[in-house]
Amino acid sequence: MSVRREQPVKDNAGRTSRKLYIETYGCQMNVNDSEIVAAVMVQNGFELVEKPEMADLILVNTCSIRENAELRVRVRLRELGSLRKTNPDTRIGVIGCMAERLKEKLLEEDRSVDLVVGPDAYRDLPKLMWQVESGQKAVNVLLSEEETYADITPVRLDANKISAFVSIMRGCNNYCAYCVVPFTRGRERSRDPDTILREIEELASAGYREITLLGQNVDSYSWGKNGEVLTFSGLLARVASGFPEIRIRFSTSHPKDMGDDVLLTMAAYDNICKSIHLPVQSGSTRILSLMKRRYSREEYMQRIEAIRQILPDCSVSTDIIAGFCTETEEDHQQTLSLMQWVGYDYAFMFKYSERPGTFAARKYTDDVPEEIKIRRLNEIIALQSQLSYKSKQQDVDKIYEVLVEGRSRKSADEFVGRTSQNKVVVFPRGTSKPGDLVRVKIHGFTSATLLGNLI
Ligand code: 5AD
Ligand code: SF4
Repeated sequence: MSVRREQPVKDNAGRTSRKLYIETYGCQMNVNDSEIVAAVMVQNGFELVEKPEMADLILVNTCSIRENAELRVRVRLRELGSLRKTNPDTRIGVIGCMAERLKEKLLEEDRSVDLVVGPDAYRDLPKLMWQVESGQKAVNVLLSEEETYADITPVRLDANKISAFVSIMRGCNNYCAYCVVPFTRGRERSRDPDTILREIEELASAGYREITLLGQNVDSYSWGKNGEVLTFSGLLARVASGFPEIRIRFSTSHPKDMGDDVLLTMAAYDNICKSIHLPVQSGSTRILSLMKRRYSREEYMQRIEAIRQILPDCSVSTDIIAGFCTETEEDHQQTLSLMQWVGYDYAFMFKYSERPGTFAARKYTDDVPEEIKIRRLNEIIALQSQLSYKSKQQDVDKIYEVLVEGRSRKSADEFVGRTSQNKVVVFPRGTSKPGDLVRVKIHGFTSATLLGNLI
């Protein structure tokens, strides 16, 4: 199946191309989806531009994960809507998770929105844009059980040309009690491995040096039937052995599904980065059970022990939610003590935000007062900064292989890159160039980065 090439769009002045600006909020998956959208639109005669003021069509790829994420988008939509004062023909489309969650309501709430398209309907965007140009509003929020955009080669929007995202699956079947994703992204489905390998092949020939395999829950990747099933570890091995010169990362793992097979495959290939993002969400078995995470504190600890045993130099990062429904001080202390025990290298930390339609919104009461949520979150953040400090301190005097990504923010004489453990390193550039794998000795660190010298 390939993307249909539609009739070129013509406006009253006879112009046949349209200028498209895409702005992306949310997760890595959304970043990759914007690249898929760009590919669909470019194939249909659209030209990408870098500023909304230059665009005939502005697409905002949105996130619904927490209320704040949606509020940010709403503010931005209002700003973008005001561009219409100077350019009344500019059309505005909302795509992604908010489009799926709010559907037609978005058109009613914000009159400057013309187009609402959910994550499984991006092939329809060019056609919907004509509908909009003929004076109608357009909506397609149908979810699919098959769509993986497997045949579409994303147009890479990131400037660095070193590292790229490759989606291996879409959707999520886990239904964690707090999470809106199964509602906005639909059922889980895996992508044909041949198309994954082909996409990586193209990236490798274009000079890319690192790929991140993306899925809401990569460990449940599954392709094929009747005993011949390719699992995630099988896919990892195929990618790693097929592209020994490419570094491989993946995200996100689920503690209930990440088996030793994945860890052993990581150990077997030098080019699979030694870094695992393993969201814990809470350190209390009672809260985990209410969250429907389907693992206990002890089971999570066993996964960490397996990582330490099989991959001694692997970094571990996590996601934590403070103040989930009924969380007590004791539950919160258990989160802190588990963080201490693991010694996370990095963490993304959030206050619980009730999302309409989720199990928690329907069945539980969001009963932890806001000021307690904030206090607990601050304690979690404070502890994590100590742990991150300790983790970086332990890197001093070590030598790491670093993939050079480009110049550092502060100086053209310095480069920035990442270790296999996904730690950012800044160092004087010497004769190295972006895309090189260099050896760097760490001599110090700041709050966010390691500092080193080429050796
Ligand atoms: N409130 C707060 N954080 C949430 N996350 C997901 N849903 C919510 C919510 N309703 C966090 C989880 C998840 C990360 C991507 O976002 O920690 O792992
Ligand atoms: Fe990504 Fe989830 Fe936000 Fe959707 S709601 S953009 S899946 S983080």
